[in-house]
Amino acid sequence: MSRKFSLDVSPPVHRGMAVLDRDAFRKEIPILAAKVSPAKAGKLLVSQVMKRYVVVSLSIELVPMYFADTKSALLDVRRVKSVAGTDDGNRLVLLNFQDRADLSPDVLEFLKEQSAEIVSHTLHLNYGYWTSGDILAAVLPEDLVEEAPSGFAAIGHIGMSHLNLNSEYLPYKHLIGQVILDKNSPHLRTVVNKLDSISNQFRVFKMELLAGEPDYIVQHHESNCQFTFDFSEVYWNSRLHTEHARLVDQFSPEDVVADVFAGVGPFAIPAAKKGCAVFANDLNPESHKYLLTNIADNKVSTLVQPSCEDGRAFIRAAFNRAIDDPFPPVPPPKISKTKQKQERAQRLREDDSSRSPPRASSPAPPSAPRRARITHFSMNLPELAIEFLDAFRGVLAAGNAGERPLSGLYGGHDAMPWVHCYCFTRELEPEKAAVDIRQRVEERLGHAVGQDTSFYLVRSVAPNKDMYCVSFRLPYDVAFAA
Ligand SMILES: C[S@@+](CC[C@H](N)C(=O)[O-])C[C@H]1O[C@@H](n2cnc3c(N)ncnc32)[C@H](O)[C@@H]1O
Repeated sequence: MSRKFSLDVSPPVHRGMAVLDRDAFRKEIPILAAKVSPAKAGKLLVSQVMKRYVVVSLSIELVPMYFADTKSALLDVRRVKSVAGTDDGNRLVLLNFQDRADLSPDVLEFLKEQSAEIVSHTLHLNYGYWTSGDILAAVLPEDLVEEAPSGFAAIGHIGMSHLNLNSEYLPYKHLIGQVILDKNSPHLRTVVNKLDSISNQFRVFKMELLAGEPDYIVQHHESNCQFTFDFSEVYWNSRLHTEHARLVDQFSPEDVVADVFAGVGPFAIPAAKKGCAVFANDLNPESHKYLLTNIADNKVSTLVQPSCEDGRAFIRAAFNRAIDDPFPPVPPPKISKTKQKQERAQRLREDDSSRSPPRASSPAPPSAPRRARITHFSMNLPELAIEFLDAFRGVLAAGNAGERPLSGLYGGHDAMPWVHCYCFTRELEPEKAAVDIRQRVEERLGHAVGQDTSFYLVRSVAPNKDMYCVSFRLPYDVAFAA
């Protein structure tokens, strides 16, 4: 026989509950407490005798054996304070025990020295105490507990459950949604279930409301930018956060970026915030609408030129637009007020020492040229982006560019823009994936891509499907093909 020294704080089990009944989750646990004056309570809490209680348990099932372990005599239950007040102004220091016989002699001795009275106390736990995992484990059929979906992706105030519900979970979907909502409010106000893999043109997730308000207009923050969008009308995937950041990190402030499938701006807006000039295009009118909002909210209107057209037409027009109406020069780096003051003081000192009259201001830096050369294309439409690559054929040749002096701007391999094209592959080994992607890209371009081409594994989207970003310089001969 071995004694049980830990309290059972698991929730009451209500297997098969289909409609959440929060009141069904109440539990009363009788424990012991040491009643002391307020001045003594702190002493009990820091006492080594109370904090390091030696538990010896005896097992006599086959062979008598003793086990020794140390634990605290003080209540050790997550999120429950170990001191409570009493009506007569004293304190109850709660103990980890239900039976006086389990208290060791040194603890009893110490409590006696402190004039503590050992009394009975009841812990009251309710729905608010347990985690979503605890509650779901208590209500779902046993065989569904292990895989129970309590995780979610947060998009603003929306929690998108990773349910992708298998049919066994369907009877419990609203209950699961409600528990996720309860346990994550006020941050979450809406919980949805992604219904199927996206197959529509604008890559919008089909979803159903599981719990909360049917409000899909979210404000989401990524890379220090604010994005507003209607999640039921546009594409957004929070899991691409690191990929957005990775690509934007490759841009320098001088760059001119053309984002062919820009969505509501997760590449375009952070790129503009670092100084890049950006053409941001998306065919979905709703994405375009929110892109405009996000450009204004993030104060990058001078640096982002939005459009709402087919990606192919956009690629054909972008080079011409950049030369017809170049972007403003790179903004000069911001100088802090302190630095400005220091520079002014330094100039005054210099002027004084040379006894020349003070200068009104430092000479203006030579004006930087306006930006007319596109340096990067971003193409995040993994299902189809490779298909759009043929739009680059002859894009800089007279047939598309007319009389514009493009050969001066794009004079040779190193002056050609990088193309960052997203795609899927079923080849799961990196070398084979690179061969597969390179072959599809070159077939569509009608030309080989350079040795400086890279293949970056973005993420695995299914057990047999990976998402890659292939980055290559647009081949000169493709762009200038007659
Ligand atoms: C996978 S989403 C990427 C959006 C955004 N760049 C991101 O990373 O979140 C692809 C976008 O391409 C847009 N799109 C689909 N077909 C298009 C086309 N033919 N021309 C331009 N945009 C298109 C969709 O509306 C969608 O916003």
